[in-house]
Parts: sequence; structure tokens; C-alpha cells
Amino acid sequence: MNALRNLKPRQVGILKGVLFVLALLPFVRLIAFGFLDRLGANPIEFITRNTGDWTLYFLCITLAVTPLRRLTGWNWLIRLRRMLGLFSFFYVVLHFMTFFWFDHFFDVEEMWRDVIKRPFITVGFIAFVLLIPLAGPPGAGRQSLLTCSSSAQSNRRTSVR
Ligand code: HEM
Repeated sequence: MNALRNLKPRQVGILKGVLFVLALLPFVRLIAFGFLDRLGANPIEFITRNTGDWTLYFLCITLAVTPLRRLTGWNWLIRLRRMLGLFSFFYVVLHFMTFFWFDHFFDVEEMWRDVIKRPFITVGFIAFVLLIPLAGPPGAGRQSLLTCSSSAQSNRRTSVR
């Protein structure tokens, strides 16, 4: 356990690379299923549900990083959080594009009607809009998925000194 507390930067880099490849697997699987004609009788529904599920998984994993880091003292976990957050965004963009492109053929009016009519899509749409600024580069005046708690922590540290 102690070894895990003090991972070297190189080891964290390798872990990050492995995680990157693993996080791409659901996407690669979808593409493979498309080529192998294994998306079922309703491919749009299959892709929408699959990408929706993976968005939710990645959001949960990203949000679990900080509590896990506090519980275990594995501070290097913070270096994985932005990448995980960006994968949440990657899958929600695929999810949204499936809906907007394949389901509505870029018909904005029809999409809005659907967003307003079905409450679970309304909630999904609001969540998507809220995620957009979080996926941007961490910069002045903007808090990203990564910077929120780390900047809050450094502020706390500064005020204690
Ligand atoms: C953070 C944002 C979002 C999350 C976490 C999310 C998650 C999910 C999940 C878990 C499902 C159910 C998958 C299943 O049945 O296994 C789903 C379905 C769906 N989502 Fe989202 N979603 C999000 C945003 C959106 C957006 C922006 C839209 C479109 C504007 C959208 C449209 C849909 C539709 C149409 C389905 C239904 C697919 C079907 O059952 O036919 N979602 N979403």
C-alpha cells in the first residue's frame, strides 16, 4: 500500500497511458460492432444507450477520484482526473451527436421539441451544457474539472500560512 502512495512520475505516466487505451475501448468496440453488423435491430438506440451508459460511468469515476485520493492518500490520482473528465465529455458528445445526427438529422427545431417533451432528455441536455465549460482548458476565471478542488486546496494552504 505504501508503494502506491509514492508512485514515481514515470509510473503515473505509464498508468495514464494504460488508462487512456482502456477508456477508448468502449468506442473501439462500438466501431467494431458497426463493421461486424452487431448493433442489433435498432443501431441508433444501441449507440445512444451505450454512449449514455459510458458517459455516466466516466462521470462517476471522475467524481470518485477526489474522495478516493483523500481516503487513500494517493495524491497522484489527481493527475488522472482531467483525462477521465475529458473522456466523460468525449462520450457525451458521441451520445449527443447520435441523437442530433442519426435521430434528428441535424433538425434543430425537431431536436428542441424532443428535448422539451421528454424530461430525461431535458435533464441530459442541461447536464451536457453544464459539462461544456468544464471540459475547456483550465484558465483565468474558469474552473475546470481538474482545477476546482486543486485551486481550492492551494488557496486553503496559502491562507493557513
Ligand atoms: C451528462 C449528460 C448525459 C448523461 C449522463 C446521459 C446518460 C444517459 C443514460 C445512462 C441513458 C440510458 C442508457 C440505457 O438505457 O442503458 C441515456 C439515454 C438517452 N439519452 Fe442521455 N445522457 C446525457 C445527455 C444527453 C443529451 C444531451 C441528450 C440529447 C439531447 C440525450 C439523449 C438521450 C436519449 C434520446 C436517450 C434514450 C435512448 C433510448 O432509450 O432510446 N442524453 N442517457
